Amino acid sequence: MGSLVLEALSKRYGSSTAVERVDLEVAQGEMVALLGPSGCGKTTTLRMVAGFIPPSGGRVLIGGQDVTRAPPYARDTGMVFQSYALFPHMSVAQNVAFGLEMRKVGRAERDERVMEALRLVRLDHLADRLPRQLSGGQQQRVALARALVVNPAVFLLDEPLSNLDAKLRGEVRMEIRALQQRLGLTTLIVTHDQEEALTMADRLVVMERGRVRQVGTAEELYEHPADPFVAGFVGRCNLVSGRLEGGGFRAESGALLRCDSTGAPADAALLALRPERIRLDPDPAGEARITAVTYLGAQTEYHVEQRGTTLLVTRPTPPLGDPMRRLAVGDAVVLSWDAAAVRLLPAA
Ligand SMILES: Nc1ncnc2c1ncn2[C@@H]1O[C@H](COP(=O)(O)OP(=O)(O)O)[C@@H](O)[C@H]1O
Ligand SMILES: [Mg+2]
Repeated sequence: MGSLVLEALSKRYGSSTAVERVDLEVAQGEMVALLGPSGCGKTTTLRMVAGFIPPSGGRVLIGGQDVTRAPPYARDTGMVFQSYALFPHMSVAQNVAFGLEMRKVGRAERDERVMEALRLVRLDHLADRLPRQLSGGQQQRVALARALVVNPAVFLLDEPLSNLDAKLRGEVRMEIRALQQRLGLTTLIVTHDQEEALTMADRLVVMERGRVRQVGTAEELYEHPADPFVAGFVGRCNLVSGRLEGGGFRAESGALLRCDSTGAPADAALLALRPERIRLDPDPAGEARITAVTYLGAQTEYHVEQRGTTLLVTRPTPPLGDPMRRLAVGDAVVLSWDAAAVRLLPAA
């Protein structure tokens, strides 16, 4: 009964639109990420689900019930904020107990559920501490426990990892995902970090300027981006303007690029090609030139210019002694790729 449905959910502020007719279904036990650049409407969408912001239009349904006009406490949601928002003068246990007190849960049951929630996030040994006596990661886990203790039908997370350092972020990310799967929580998480979205969520919703651009699994978005925005936002992508010509793609610069035009849109005006799908071979007779080489440890990035079009190429760094290892700026190379690796997209 914990599914979440958004129907044409919209929010306008005066003449500007923060969220524009967002449709979405999150199945029971599914984790969906709202992904997009800053200001695209992610937080506004999440807060409309939680009931903190009244929508200008559309509906929110939780477990089939229309809760669009219900106050936050009557919605059966648990929310974790970017800035943990813990009460500084209350102990860890008191912070976690807060939502149960609001719901008038009796003392004995309350104590039991608080300890259970703290055990879930492995903080039961710190129940009597104050928030300032905890590390950032521990504070975030208190915030998780506080949201989970009410057994919410829908779990809402707004950039929960953005205040943590890189190493901790990776750990807490895995912890949240494991907890979400173990408890079968219907979850909507907001993030601007594509890696976070790709690693945590079952499906992603890519938003731009208040609108949903595409919904899909990480693989669907990466392999079949619907438009240039999604292609450029989920992973990195070479995007070349031009037009179909004969069997290939004529870049505006004049270069003719190999592609498979079967099924391409008639108005194809952009060629999208992932940097790791391009092969690079040293060849003194090659017409492409390396213009930059960046060593990144496991991978090496090359900028390669061919008749006025520059493509980014990423390859696993070759072992020491491999002639590929000596490729340098100015070297002549030949680029190649499978025609099927190319996506043809309409203009932005
Ligand atoms: N209370 C408000 N009044 C006016 N505009 C707002 C308000 N809250 C948010 N906005 C605008 O709505 C848009 C979406 O904001 P937000 O949902 O916070 O984006 P995100 O979380 O994706 O960064 C932004 O352009 C923001 O400036
Ligand atoms: Mg936000």
